[in-house]
This record gives sequence, structure tokens and C-alpha cells, in this order.
Amino acid sequence: MKKAIILAAGEGTRMKSKKSKVLHTLLGQKMISYVLESAKDAGVDEIIVIGGKNLNELKNELSGEDIRFVEQPIGDEFPYGTGYAVSLCEEYINEKDEILILTGDTPLIRGESLKALMAEHKDHYGATVLTADIDDPTGYGRIVRDEQGNFHKIVEDRDCNEEEKRIKEFNSGLMIVNGKELIESLGEISDENDQGEMYLTDIFEILHGKDCAIGTYKLKDVNEVYGINSKAQLSFAEEILRERINGYWMEEGVVMENPSTITIEPTVLLHQDVILSSGVRLYGDTEVLENTKITGDCEIRNSKIGKGVVIQSSYIEDSEVKDFADVGPFAHLRMNTVIGEKVHIGNFVEVKNSVIEQGSKAGHLVYVGDADVGTDVNISCGVIFANYDGKNKYRSKVDDGAFIGSNVNLVAPVHVKEESFIACGSTITEDVEEGSLAIARARQVNKKDWYKKKKDEWK
Ligand code: UD1
Ligand code: CA
Repeated sequence: MKKAIILAAGEGTRMKSKKSKVLHTLLGQKMISYVLESAKDAGVDEIIVIGGKNLNELKNELSGEDIRFVEQPIGDEFPYGTGYAVSLCEEYINEKDEILILTGDTPLIRGESLKALMAEHKDHYGATVLTADIDDPTGYGRIVRDEQGNFHKIVEDRDCNEEEKRIKEFNSGLMIVNGKELIESLGEISDENDQGEMYLTDIFEILHGKDCAIGTYKLKDVNEVYGINSKAQLSFAEEILRERINGYWMEEGVVMENPSTITIEPTVLLHQDVILSSGVRLYGDTEVLENTKITGDCEIRNSKIGKGVVIQSSYIEDSEVKDFADVGPFAHLRMNTVIGEKVHIGNFVEVKNSVIEQGSKAGHLVYVGDADVGTDVNISCGVIFANYDGKNKYRSKVDDGAFIGSNVNLVAPVHVKEESFIACGSTITEDVEEGSLAIARARQVNKKDWYKKKKDEWK
């Protein structure tokens, strides 16, 4: 069986956070979730996560995942180090297994790279280490090769001689090892080094000494093994991820203006000829169909946007906007709102938990809450659906072709029937019959010469 062990017991002190390092998020997903996804993409049959003091937090936050958790006891009375951590999983390792060892703080690793590592390893080596070249390898373990270019050993930075220091190929800390070789070598790791830690990397020297063939697989993109220890590194990794995701969507035919300012979470789906301007943020389970243009300060979360839609500077959550509708600038759609085809939602319009059907318009300064609005309804400037009496919320209904004049209050629950009209300024508390005109306001009175008289009185 192929199994992955994800090391996540480190204390992460440099994050300066009460939250476990591997649970911090990049583009909306937990750091360790990226590693889990890549392990799954690589086709492993089982995933083991090693937690330390953060174990309960990990269990809670990853409760939906099919993971075996192993606890690493942390304290002065226990050994420490990656080698010790892996040795705690021994009871779950069979000789015939292939064990992929990953770290929870290298979230940029791609599933396809792990697949390539596994392919290189299979049937050739007892252990294969994932490497990459880097301009400044300070701090990393170097990959030392023999004259034929075969793997010879890993030398930690502090133990390098002058020649070794110049080696640009480094140990990523990620590797795959056969169960048999792993069990054999783990037993021989010691903590006799200046850090007093049990280093997993020691298995290579041990295995080399047993004439076990050791392979390497070199990544083309060194960023894949970028490790996160601090909040600055977290933000840098997020930047790399943003570039990767935005680059992917541009390849797929999305147009982006200033892509470095555009945020697209990995869960989002886009289609050809979508146009995104600076500052657009697309989150969660959002999909945008072709030829839709989203510009300005837009945040769209868990929403489905149709084709040929135009959205300007608006916030949209848990809603749907159908084909050829237009929204904004400065609109807010939320809570299961459905905006029908060719509907126009203009500036300063909020729509909550409502359905507005095809061809209807709410152009300016409108609140639609808890309503079912039919087709070709005109909702004029300043209309308010008064859906809340301070205790309960009520739903209103407006049928096809109705015309609601400016500054109308619809006091819910109320039913405005087909092709009826409501005079502007009305406060509607009763249903409006089909085809009729409702006027619910005091008739205008003009008091002749009112001020002329007052002027004399007031003198
Ligand atoms: C390691 C490698 C080094 C490599 C580098 C790449 C060794 C000796 N060195 O160093 O060659 O270039 O990674 O980044 O391995 N962890 C546990 N339990 C422990 C200790 C660590 O779960 O007892 C976890 C940490 O949470 C972390 C991972 O293991 O996710 C790596 O440990 P870390 O101490 O950061 O190794 P490096 O010093 O970076
Ligand atoms: Ca590290």
C-alpha cells in the first residue's frame, strides 16, 4: 500500500500565534489541507498525520478527513526530531508499503510532483529524496553526488566543507521510502548530534551503508518546497499560490488586469473570456461562466454567476446571478438571492433572500428582503421591502409586470399582483389587485397664501 505520513508536530514558535502553524490559511484553505490534497492527488491509500501539542486542534479542524492521527509526545523527557516522529508510526508501516513522507508546512507541493517522485522511486530504489536547486542554499541539507552523478549522501548545512557549501541542490525534507528499509533504518537513528535531535535524514546514510539504492527526484520549480515558519513566509507562499492559480486561469482563457491584485481561491471555477479587473476577490464555491465581466472592488463568495453578466464593485454571497444580468456599482446580494436573466440591479441596491425574475429592474437605492419578484417588474428608486416588524420576518410577492413607483414601502407580508401599479410615495400594507393602481398616501393640500398670512402674524 501507498501511505503518506505528514509531519505536523513542530511547535511553530516563529509564527507567534496561538493557532497551530499548519492550520493557518493560504487563499482560504488551511496550510495542511494543501498537503492532504496533493497526497490524495498522488494516489496514496492512507494518510497519517503526526501532531504534538496541537493534536486536538488538528483533529477538530480536520474532522471531515479520512486521516489516522498519531500523537508525538513533546517534552524534556522525550526525544525530538523528524526521525523520532516517523518512528512513532512504525506500527502502521508494513514492509511492503511505500511511505511518502511530507511536512505540513510545505503546502505548495503539487500532487503531480509527488506522482513523479513515486514513479522515479518505484522498483528502483529503497528510498528516494525530493530535491531542488536553489541560488542560496544556506540552512539546507545538501545533496552530495558521486562521480557518476549518483546520490552519495546528505550533508546538513553546518557540516558542509567549502566544496559542499557550493552545492545548490538541497534536500526538501520530502521523500518516499519502502516500508522495509524505513523500519530497518529508523531503528538505527540516534540523537548524537549538536542539536540532540533524531534526524530523519540520517536514514540515507544508514541505507547507503547497507548498499541500498537511493534515488533522487529534482523539482523544476523550487517554490514547491517552500517551507513556512513565519507570517511573512505565509504571505510570500500565498503570493506564489496566487500567481499559480491566476496563471492557470489565464491559460484557460480568463482575462486579468493586474493579476497580482486579484484573489481567486483554489475552489473557484472560471470559464473562457471571463474578464476580471484589479482588486476582484473570488472565494469559496464560486463559479463564473463565460464572457462575464467583473470589475472594481468586488467580493464574490459561494455564488454562481452566469454568462455575459456585468458586475461592478459589488459584494455577492451565497447567491446566483443568471445570464446577461448586470449588478452594481455598489450592490449587495446575499442569502440565497437569485437574480434572473437580464435583470438590472443598479447602485446602492441590497437584495436578501429573494428571487427577482427575468427582465426586472431595481436601478437605484432599493432594499429587497424576503421577496419573490416576478418578470419585468419595475422597482423604482428608493423602494423598500419592509420585511421585519422587530420580531418576525415576512415574505412578500410581486407578480409579473408590476410597476412600483419611487419611494414606496411594501410592508410585508403583501402581494402585489400582475400588471398593477403603485403610486410613488405609497406605504402599502394590503394586497394590490391585478391591473389596478394603488395609492396609499395623503392627498396633497395646497394652503393658499399661507405664508403671506404668517408673515403678518409673525411680525
Ligand atoms: C529539514 C532537513 C534538511 C532540509 C530541510 C528542508 C533534517 C535533519 N533536515 O530541516 O535537510 O533541507 O528540512 O526544509 O531533517 N517535526 C515533527 N516532529 C519533530 C520535529 C519536526 O513533526 O519532532 C515536523 C515539523 O513540524 C516540520 C517538519 O517536521 O513540519 C520539518 O522539521 P524541521 O525541524 O523544520 O526541519 P529542518 O530543520 O527545516
Ligand atoms: Ca523547516
